[in-house]
Amino acid sequence: MGFGLFLGLLSICAPSVANAASASVPGLEVAYSLERATQGISISGNGRKFLSQRYSTTAAPQIVELLDDNSTVLYPNAEWNSYNSSNPKSNPRTTFVNVDGARLGPDGRYWVVDGGATGINGSAKLVGVNLTTNAVDKLYYLDDTKASDRGLDDVRFSASGEIGYLSDIAGALIVLNLTSGHNVRVLTNSTTAEALFPIMYNGTLVPGSDGLGSVSTAGLDQIEVSPDGTYLYYQPCNGGMHRIKTSYVDAVLTNDTMAATLGDYAEPFALTPSTGGTTIDADGNIYASDTNMLAIWKITPAGHCSILFHSEKLLWTDLMWITADKKLWLPASQMRPGGDGLMATGPNYIFTYPIDAGPSPIDHV
Ligand SMILES: *[C@@H]1O[C@H](CO)[C@@H](O)[C@H](O)[C@H]1NC(C)=O
Ligand SMILES: *[C@@H]1O[C@H](CO)[C@@H](O)[C@H](O)[C@H]1NC(C)=O
Ligand SMILES: *[C@@H]1O[C@H](CO)[C@@H](O)[C@H](O)[C@H]1NC(C)=O
Ligand SMILES: *[C@@H]1O[C@H](CO)[C@@H](O)[C@H](O)[C@H]1NC(C)=O
Ligand SMILES: *[C@@H]1O[C@H](CO)[C@@H](O)[C@H](O)[C@H]1NC(C)=O
Ligand SMILES: *[C@@H]1O[C@H](CO)[C@@H](O)[C@H](O)[C@H]1NC(C)=O
Ligand SMILES: *[C@@H]1O[C@H](CO)[C@@H](O)[C@H](O)[C@H]1NC(C)=O
Ligand SMILES: *[C@@H]1O[C@H](CO)[C@@H](O)[C@H](O)[C@H]1NC(C)=O
Repeated sequence: MGFGLFLGLLSICAPSVANAASASVPGLEVAYSLERATQGISISGNGRKFLSQRYSTTAAPQIVELLDDNSTVLYPNAEWNSYNSSNPKSNPRTTFVNVDGARLGPDGRYWVVDGGATGINGSAKLVGVNLTTNAVDKLYYLDDTKASDRGLDDVRFSASGEIGYLSDIAGALIVLNLTSGHNVRVLTNSTTAEALFPIMYNGTLVPGSDGLGSVSTAGLDQIEVSPDGTYLYYQPCNGGMHRIKTSYVDAVLTNDTMAATLGDYAEPFALTPSTGGTTIDADGNIYASDTNMLAIWKITPAGHCSILFHSEKLLWTDLMWITADKKLWLPASQMRPGGDGLMATGPNYIFTYPIDAGPSPIDHV
């Protein structure tokens, strides 16, 4: 997820997270130690690794490919990662303005959600990169669809691959026909998409940016689609997961009545906690990163919740990934949210943890 972040000086001493790397949870292993805070990881079928690196007090969000020698290179290229708001020549339509969710899709493309910036047309978009050509070959501008004041967050796809579902943290779902580009913003009036409670982090409410006593909230944020394509799961960042049949969701593209009443079809699914990110496996189990208790939850397709493991190392674990060798990949971004200027200091670990299933075929390549 990525709610509004506020840059400021980190004047406090960062807690000793480095020591945490040696704390033991059986099966939890450090796969990478990175200089830049890493929000998300995606791994292609042939092992290419892509990182979204968002949480920094000083550097702009960026997308990189992690190469075999462990160096990183801007992806798909330097130009897409070159946006500079102070430079009038910088084109928000052809650069990443505010990278948020980023992931490989079932079609093999690497999809980047540009959350956009208020008042900058062309900044809010879904960008598809072809891994063969390493060039952007899909582009959907969503500035006119999203709320004016808050950003787009993440994306998932329908079983057919034709529909994209995007979260809008103002508290809405955007349903996008990838063939035609037609899109509709729904659930805007549904409490299921709304932040009814602030986000929690490491035992406390996350402070907001509106001065002392304010708190941070984010509406519809995490989304997953069941491996059989039947259900769309979603929750606001503070948790409380609902699901809706995708047949109803997809119908909003062509049925205005359904678009206006989609929330009526939402079923409560699980009382999930404040979450940095979720992912889903081939058996339909959802994994949710609990940013409050620093744990990973497992939620079965029947809605049964359990805590898989807990570790102080899981500081703001965000966009997770599952590989065919049945590993859950966990980027612990070290983000310390709060209006007084958070933020990630190193080391930034990506962990792996063994699970019982591989990736969902309609979610991962
Ligand atoms: C890259 O990092 C991984 C994980 O730390 C390590 O196992 C591997 O040896 C490193 N590769 C190189 C070429 O340094
Ligand atoms: C952004 O653009 C401004 C104005 O052209 C320039 O002064 C500044 O150095 C640029 N920043 C970066 C990081 O390139
Ligand atoms: C933003 O750009 C789109 C094209 O992507 C255009 O249709 C729309 O009118 C523009 N909106 C504003 C407010 O300029
Ligand atoms: C990517 O580009 C290659 C070469 O042009 C093309 O064959 C392939 O179909 C493209 N991939 C997708 C997912 O469209
Ligand atoms: C998506 O758009 C294509 C092209 O206009 C159309 O054929 C298809 O039926 C649409 N799909 C949905 C689910 O609306
Ligand atoms: C998390 O909370 C505990 C208990 O208050 C505190 O000791 C620790 O420093 C906190 N960690 C971070 C990264 O804020
Ligand atoms: C549109 O959706 C409404 C509400 O779910 C439903 O009653 C109606 O039958 C749908 N119309 C069509 C043409 O499918
Ligand atoms: C949702 O609520 C807003 C104001 O709260 C109202 O303007 C709008 O018509 C409502 N939309 C639907 C689809 O009910």
